Amino acid sequence: MTTSMHLISRICSLGRLYLLVLSLQLTLSSAGKMKIVEEPNTFGLNNPLLGQGNRLQPKVSPSPFSGPPHLHVLAGKCFSYTESTYKYEFCPFHNVTQHEQTFRWNAYSGILGIWQEWEIANNTFTGMWMREGDSCGNKNRQTKVLLVCGGSSKLAQVSEPSTCMYSLTFETPLVCHPHSLLVYPVLGDKLQKEWDEAEQALYEEFVTEQGYNKLLKDIFEEAGYLKTQKVKETPNVQKNPKNFESLEKCSEEVKKLSEEVKRLQVLLTHHNISSNKQPGGKSQAAGGATPAVLSQDGHLRGDPGVLPGLL
Ligand SMILES: *[C@@H]1O[C@H](CO)[C@@H](O)[C@H](O)[C@H]1NC(C)=O
Ligand SMILES: *[C@@H]1O[C@H](CO)[C@@H](O)[C@H](O)[C@H]1NC(C)=O
Ligand SMILES: *[C@@H]1O[C@H](CO)[C@@H](O)[C@H](O)[C@H]1NC(C)=O
Repeated sequence: MTTSMHLISRICSLGRLYLLVLSLQLTLSSAGKMKIVEEPNTFGLNNPLLGQGNRLQPKVSPSPFSGPPHLHVLAGKCFSYTESTYKYEFCPFHNVTQHEQTFRWNAYSGILGIWQEWEIANNTFTGMWMREGDSCGNKNRQTKVLLVCGGSSKLAQVSEPSTCMYSLTFETPLVCHPHSLLVYPVLGDKLQKEWDEAEQALYEEFVTEQGYNKLLKDIFEEAGYLKTQKVKETPNVQKNPKNFESLEKCSEEVKKLSEEVKRLQVLLTHHNISSNKQPGGKSQAAGGATPAVLSQDGHLRGDPGVLPGLL
């Protein structure tokens, strides 16, 4: 009885697999034909069979908006700049991309960076860091966008100072006022007070210049202007209580696992299956009871099983 049922279900799943392959082939061939006829220029970009290099696949999501509130009007907009065969696109607080201007079927498009954090120098927001772009050897492409005063908002210059490290100059009237990019006025009361204290401590020589810079960095991180280096903090925390922590973790893991074992034993007992795993040890209950404890799809009751759809 069970054998024939198994056979039937296997034939069914083979049939389904065959249908799946067939419909996949149909979809692919019709999609291919449509693209070639209707949009030859984007065929290369959208072709799912091509490598990732030609598709825009962000590695990370952009950081939330931060910085001078009056720059929020730029979020969601994009500005482009064409130089020789490349079009560069800068979407403030989102990304920088590069698009080869050609009618070749496999025109290159790539991500030069995703919005991550500000560059702050001399208490001023001086640039936007767009990092984690497409791979370039063993690192990722990154772009620093400099904000300079200009009559209208536009990308004014693109360069590649070092391999896969790009520099964009973005002109906008939004940064023409001499105070428009100052950090201090944008901070909340609490962080402004912390900065005041750091200033005082530096003045009274309670902290060194280096210590002062560290205090400021913490303030900028808390404000969300700089990305927190979580990796940096973890080793400090772990330094001393390392052994204790790993032991605690170990016991915790052991407790979790033994609870899982108990749960499974209860499940087995409930189904009259011995949990002694002696080889060939046909325990009283297991032998004759097997068909009874299997539900119709061949799984233990309570076990969702793997890929139930194919069985
Ligand atoms: C880049 O940012 C723009 C504007 O927010 C967005 O529409 C686009 O999908 C982004 N592109 C990538 C590859 O993330
Ligand atoms: C730093 O910023 C202040 C105020 O904006 C400015 O007067 C000064 O020239 C700047 N110094 C440097 C070295 O950029
Ligand atoms: C398990 O075995 C007991 C007696 O040994 C029986 O009463 C019970 O119905 C069985 N349960 C199942 C699920 O087969």
